[in-house]
Amino acid sequence: MKIGIVGLGFVGLSLTSMLASKGFNTVGIDIDKEKCKKISNGIPPFFEPDLEKTLKNGLKKKLQISYDFSLINDCDLIFVTVGTPQSANGAIDLSIIKKAVATIGKNLQRTKKQPIILIKSTVVPRTMKDIILPILEKNSKKKAGKDFGLISNPEFLQESTAIRDTKFPHAVVLGGYQTGFMKKIKKFFTKLHPNTPIIITNHQTAEMIKYANNSFLATKISFINQLSNICQKIPGANIDDIAKTMGLDPRIGKSFLNAGPGYGGSCLPKDMKALINFANKIGIKSTLLKEVEKTNQKQITNIISILEEEIGNLKTKRITVLGTAFKPETDDIRDSTSIKLIKKLLEKGARITIHDPKAIENTKNMFGKKIKYKKSIIDSLIRSQCAIIMTQWKEYSKITNSTIRHMDKKIIIDSRRILTDKNINANYHAIGIGYDK
Ligand SMILES: NC(=O)c1ccc[n+]([C@@H]2O[C@H](COP(=O)([O-])OP(=O)(O)OC[C@H]3O[C@@H](n4cnc5c(N)ncnc54)[C@H](O)[C@@H]3O)[C@@H](O)[C@H]2O)c1
Repeated sequence: MKIGIVGLGFVGLSLTSMLASKGFNTVGIDIDKEKCKKISNGIPPFFEPDLEKTLKNGLKKKLQISYDFSLINDCDLIFVTVGTPQSANGAIDLSIIKKAVATIGKNLQRTKKQPIILIKSTVVPRTMKDIILPILEKNSKKKAGKDFGLISNPEFLQESTAIRDTKFPHAVVLGGYQTGFMKKIKKFFTKLHPNTPIIITNHQTAEMIKYANNSFLATKISFINQLSNICQKIPGANIDDIAKTMGLDPRIGKSFLNAGPGYGGSCLPKDMKALINFANKIGIKSTLLKEVEKTNQKQITNIISILEEEIGNLKTKRITVLGTAFKPETDDIRDSTSIKLIKKLLEKGARITIHDPKAIENTKNMFGKKIKYKKSIIDSLIRSQCAIIMTQWKEYSKITNSTIRHMDKKIIIDSRRILTDKNINANYHAIGIGYDK
C-alpha cells in the first residue's frame, strides 16, 4: 500500500512522519520547495516535540518528500492536510484546499488506481458535498464512490503533542457514503489504531464534529477565564483550586480549565469565527459562541488595565513579554494572544522586549525591528518596568528574586500563575487570584 499526504504543515508532516516511521510506503507533497528540501534532509520546518526523531526514522524507510504531484498517481490513500485559514470577514477561506484538490483531480485522470481521498483539513459543513466532490469529479472526469473514494477524516491533534496524538488519537471519524471504500478505510484504521473508537457517519456530521469539539474547548476556556476575572475581585479567591476541584468531577473533566490570557493558536480562534460565520449564513444567531469570543478578547484588555493601573500612560514604558508562542513546546505564534498583546502595547507607544525559548525567529519575522529580542530571561528583564508572563513555558517557573534584580520597576503580571508560590519580591499580579488592595 502506498500513501500520499498533500500539505506538510503541522498536521501533514506529523502524519507523514508517523506513517513512514511505521514502515508504510509514504510520499509527502507540498508546494513549498524550500520546505520540501528541509524535510527531505530530516529538518522539520517548525518545532514539535519528537517530530525530528520520527521524521528521520521515516526517511530511513520508504519516505519520499516532493513538490511533484504526479507521485500521488500510484497512491492507494491520499490524505489532504492543507491549511483552511480565515478570511478577513471571519469566514473560512477555502482557496488553498480548492487548488489542492483540483491538482489531485487532474492527477487522478492519469491513474488506473481507485484511491481513497481523505480530507483532514478542517472545513465547514457541506464543503465536501458542495465544493470538494464537484472539483474532484470535474478535474478527474471520474465519479466519487465508483472510481475513487472520498472520506471526511477530521484531525484532532494538538500542537506540542502532535506526534503522540497522531499515533494515539482519541477517536477516528470517517464521514462519507457507505461504499466499499468506506469498508476498506475502516479496516485500515482498525489495524493502524486498534482499540480506538471509529465513528462512521456522513460527510456533514463529520465536518460538524470538528467544529463541535473546538467550539466546546473554546467555551470551556472562556468559562474558566470569566470565573477567574470574578475571583480576581474576591480577596483570597484562587481560580486554580476551583478549576482543580471542578476537573475532578467526571462530568466536567480537567482539561482546558487552565485560566489565562485567552485562547489562541492556529485552530480555536479561526474555527470559532468560521462556525459563527457559517451559522449566521444558515440563519442561526450563535449568541453563546459570540460571547465566548468576546470573553476571550477581554482577557487581553484585563491585562492592559492592570498594567495601566500600575504604571499609568504606557508611552515609552519598557515592558517585557515572556512567551510569544501560543502555548509551550511549540514555536507557533499564529493567532497567539501574546502577539495580540504586543500589538496593542505598541499602539500605546510602549517599548517591548520579548523572550521565548523557541519562537524568537517567528516573532522576528512578524515584528522586525519594532521590538527587541533576548535569548535569556535575565537579559530580557534588564531595565524593564514590567514583565508579563504570557506562555506557560516551564523556564518561567524558575524565575526568582535574583532573575528580576535588574528590573527598573519590579512589576510582574503573571497570566499563568506560575510564580504564585515563589514569594517574589515584586508588585505581583496573578490573573485569577484575588488580593487585598
Ligand atoms: N495545527 C493544528 O493544530 C491542527 C489541528 C487539527 C486540525 N488542523 C487543521 O488541519 C489543516 C492543516 O493545518 P496545519 O496547521 O497543518 O496547516 P499549515 O499551514 O501548518 O500547513 C499547510 C501546508 O500545506 C501546504 N500547501 C498549501 N497549498 C498546497 C497545495 N496546493 N498542495 C500541497 N501543499 C500545499 C503549505 O505549504 C503548508 O506546508 C487546517 O485545516 C487546520 O485547521 C490543524
